[in-house]
Amino acid sequence: MNELFSPDAYARVQKLPDLLLPWYDSHKRDLPWRINTDPYRVWISEIMLQQTRVEAVKEHYLRFLRTLPDVHALAECREDTLFKLWEGLGYYSRARNLQKAAKIIDRNGFPRTERELRSLPGIGDYTAGAIASIAFEEATPAVDGNVVRVLSRLLGDERSPTFLKKALRDLLACAYPPLRRGDFTQSLMELGATVCLPASPLCLTCPLLQLCDTRSDALPAREPKAVRRKIPVTVLLFHNGSRIALCKRENGLLRGTYGFFTIERAMEQEDAARFLQDAGLNRFALGKEIKHNHVFSHIEWNMTAFPVACETDVSSLTLPENIARDGIVCTRFQALSYHEKSYVERELSLPTAFRWCLQYL
Ligand code: ADE
Repeated sequence: MNELFSPDAYARVQKLPDLLLPWYDSHKRDLPWRINTDPYRVWISEIMLQQTRVEAVKEHYLRFLRTLPDVHALAECREDTLFKLWEGLGYYSRARNLQKAAKIIDRNGFPRTERELRSLPGIGDYTAGAIASIAFEEATPAVDGNVVRVLSRLLGDERSPTFLKKALRDLLACAYPPLRRGDFTQSLMELGATVCLPASPLCLTCPLLQLCDTRSDALPAREPKAVRRKIPVTVLLFHNGSRIALCKRENGLLRGTYGFFTIERAMEQEDAARFLQDAGLNRFALGKEIKHNHVFSHIEWNMTAFPVACETDVSSLTLPENIARDGIVCTRFQALSYHEKSYVERELSLPTAFRWCLQYL
């Protein structure tokens, strides 16, 4: 026990297993990662489920396991294969870390405790707690946004979600039952995902109704909204018949995935035409501008794309001097190469930030 919570809060969370486990048995969703508690399967699901909805994860998860059925297959697979499997899930660093960790596990075996799990790339408090409890029955809570919501309402706790995310770990650790610890972890997640919803929670069907202080969506406390930096990005969609120019992105958020030529600068059609001429492109047809916003976790790209039809191989162009001089972030022309559009759709990982462009080519 510590002083962050009252003795009453401790007493109340002790009651959770008896209320939640029977409810979980009869209400849990049939999800593909719940077929067994193989640590590899649990690990992959928990990484995919970070910041991604269950519905979006299901298909990706099944395809991933068919292609990479065990740690060894993941450790050895090509990065392009991995990123293609990850396409649409976002946060590609998660996939990269997954493979880094797989190489370590392939050599040393799967860590069986929360503490050891946490030393692996991409595994933080939440994921370590989830894997250790679900796969190894350790009494280790996994507190994500859903669980914070459930517990802040249950206890009528108005403190900030960021604070609670950490503090609730110790409180919940005291509530773990001697058996079915993995199910207890998942029952809390399940309640948050299906009953204790962010807006319009289904309180009348909640197994914790009698125990709950809030019985509404009045909690958790609102966190100040994160300010996203907005970056103007011009995207040039070079194409020659059915072939389109792509690069493997070398830096930044989408490193390792494929994308179109980008320059972090707002351009209107005339600016784009001037830019191309200054880069040494003589014969081309510049299409109309297409606007699109893409939101990442901390930044937002305000994108303007232009289709550029040309027969010249654009990898031979050079960046105009003023752009190079001002250090404007921009794709290297030399990194571009042409691929058939159908091949791109089938084989290359084109992240959601760029996928929408294909319809204009
Ligand atoms: N969200 C995070 N982990 C989950 C799990 N194991 N089941 C359902 N939703 C989740």
